[in-house]
Amino acid sequence: MLGILARTMAKDLWHKVKPCGHLVRPVAPTQLPGRYLSHQEGLPNLPVPPLQQTCERYLAALEPIVNEKELSHTKELLAEFQGSGGVGERLQKGLERRAHKTQNWLSDWWLTTAYLDYRMPVVIHSSPGVVLPRMEFSDRQGQMRFAAKLIAGILDFKTMIDNETLPVEYLGGKPLCMNQYYQVLSSCRIPGLKRDTVVNYSRSSRPPTHITVVHNFQFFVLDVYNSDGTPLTVDQLYIQLEKIWNSSLQNNKEPVGILTSNHRNTWGKAYSSLIRDKTNKKSVQSIQTSIFTVCLDAAMPRVSEELYRSRAAVQMLHGGGSRWNSGNRWFDKTLQFIVGEDGSCGVIYEHAPAEGPPIVSLIDHVVEYTKKSEIVRTPMVPLPMPRKLRFNITPEIKKDIDDAKQNMNIMVHDLDVKVIVFSHFGKNVPKAHKMSPDAFIQMGLQLAYYRMYLQCCSTYESASLRMFRLGRTDTIRSCSVDSANFVKAMDDPAKPNVEKVILLEKAVKAHRAYTDMAIRGQAIDRHLLGLKLQAIEDLTSLPEIFMDTSYAVANHYNLSTSQVPAQTDCVMCFGPVVPDGYGVCYNPMAEHINFAVSAFNSCDKTNAARMAQGLESALLDMRSLLESTPKAKL
Ligand code: COA
Repeated sequence: MLGILARTMAKDLWHKVKPCGHLVRPVAPTQLPGRYLSHQEGLPNLPVPPLQQTCERYLAALEPIVNEKELSHTKELLAEFQGSGGVGERLQKGLERRAHKTQNWLSDWWLTTAYLDYRMPVVIHSSPGVVLPRMEFSDRQGQMRFAAKLIAGILDFKTMIDNETLPVEYLGGKPLCMNQYYQVLSSCRIPGLKRDTVVNYSRSSRPPTHITVVHNFQFFVLDVYNSDGTPLTVDQLYIQLEKIWNSSLQNNKEPVGILTSNHRNTWGKAYSSLIRDKTNKKSVQSIQTSIFTVCLDAAMPRVSEELYRSRAAVQMLHGGGSRWNSGNRWFDKTLQFIVGEDGSCGVIYEHAPAEGPPIVSLIDHVVEYTKKSEIVRTPMVPLPMPRKLRFNITPEIKKDIDDAKQNMNIMVHDLDVKVIVFSHFGKNVPKAHKMSPDAFIQMGLQLAYYRMYLQCCSTYESASLRMFRLGRTDTIRSCSVDSANFVKAMDDPAKPNVEKVILLEKAVKAHRAYTDMAIRGQAIDRHLLGLKLQAIEDLTSLPEIFMDTSYAVANHYNLSTSQVPAQTDCVMCFGPVVPDGYGVCYNPMAEHINFAVSAFNSCDKTNAARMAQGLESALLDMRSLLESTPKAKL
């Protein structure tokens, strides 16, 4: 997700995004039309940061990751770039004009550059997964009962979206853009030969009233509303799911969904041949227009309790390969809820329309909903059989499916994921030491990386830009001069602990300051991207600062990280963004932290389990340092 920038080129200050905070309260029955738009109109525009400021901050960010020669070369290039009457000034003016004319100067560019033009498979390379706590069932009845409740919970959340009664979220006392919530249901990515599109059907003249359910690689249309517009009850949904299950007992069908896991150009080509057939086209449209998809997965191989979460993470990220559940998906669908026969549960979502926090907010609501006791009993009015989607598989499509299976299995073998529950402490310990927990965790990551590689690396952490209309993310560059000073000192026996504590505090403060700057639209990365895209749009030659080694190093994120906090004891996970890097996502809870670390097996320098273990040791050592250094000495 996050290091998407790398792929395109390669609370008051302490407050966090407040979750919806209204779990399972009855959704507002009355519609508040126009509420969403009037809220959106009141939000500020994303600013274009001053050119000089970005150039200075860019140089500071390069210091710990490039060598002196590279740095001094970049300094020269930047001096020329930002000089009076120079290229930078012209591009900056272009950006300011764009900001004046559009709702958000960045959002369309970001959507196309980071997602729709990105041609790697969405699986592993773009779509995040979410691992939910293992549910207490291990058979088909339990699976369907839970899936029925889950569907009802999502429809309950949808009512708030439809009625425009979704409570507005706040960050640092400021209201946030709520647009992403309106983009995640009834939407789907559509492959193209060179660029994809993403379509949202919720605002069409006849918004969809069905979901798709997939079991044993077979897709079904399930209408989830009664003719009077009320959603089906849990009992009704259960009965419908049973019908689906019973008419898809065998998994001897071609896993047509696996086509969506392919390289986007390959899938774009296969897509046009697939939908040349009318039946196929109708079936594909039913999936694309559905509100969301539920994947009823077959049980995955049993593993020990310790390995369970890591195994569940890969199930969510890719389905386990063509022999397991990878064909039980339509990876272009924005939201897919996965319920395994063995109690494994989670989500995979296509990243183009939204970031993790709105998805996790929805999940928090749904998980609470599933805990409600079921009091509503439904009169058993017979419901029509859910419609099975038919596909005519020509030899050409069969070949595309076989190729996609093969590619998927290669990707599956290459992904190394380790999920750990860091149980020693959570946000409580950094808070007790008057430190930002997020900054503390990021410094733990810097220390773990430095200990493994004896060098610092370009690091990406996502920062929300939702204080601004249609805001998405910018980058917090966690590797700074201050973080480098701390990690270098930490294991140096010549340095007294008092000094190490001072360096840690300074690094944590610097990180928090960067975070505040980023969420206020003053970080450097999207601004630099904007200047680059402006040059491309103006059809002028690309300024040298973008062809410089330092720029390549800065955008090669060996650590691509993100905090996605949730009330549910879950964790989001995603793949690394460079071949020799790590993807690290975490959910810091009050007294423990869930981490998901990923790497590629094809890189002999990286190892997810080693990084996870290094992170655990780093966090513990940082706590010991703070606890063993008497305050009076500081
Ligand atoms: N002393 C004591 N407590 C402190 C503190 C300090 N010095 N600094 C922070 N805290 C507290 C905060 O008040 C907050 O309290 P809460 O748990 O009661 O809410 C808590 O510690 C967490 O704050 P912090 O760790 O600093 O982080 P944050 O919650 O502000 O989050 C980001 C930081 C960067 C994650 C957030 O701003 C953001 O942008 N999130 C979106 C990321 C995103 O989009 N990810 C998805 C990508 S797909």
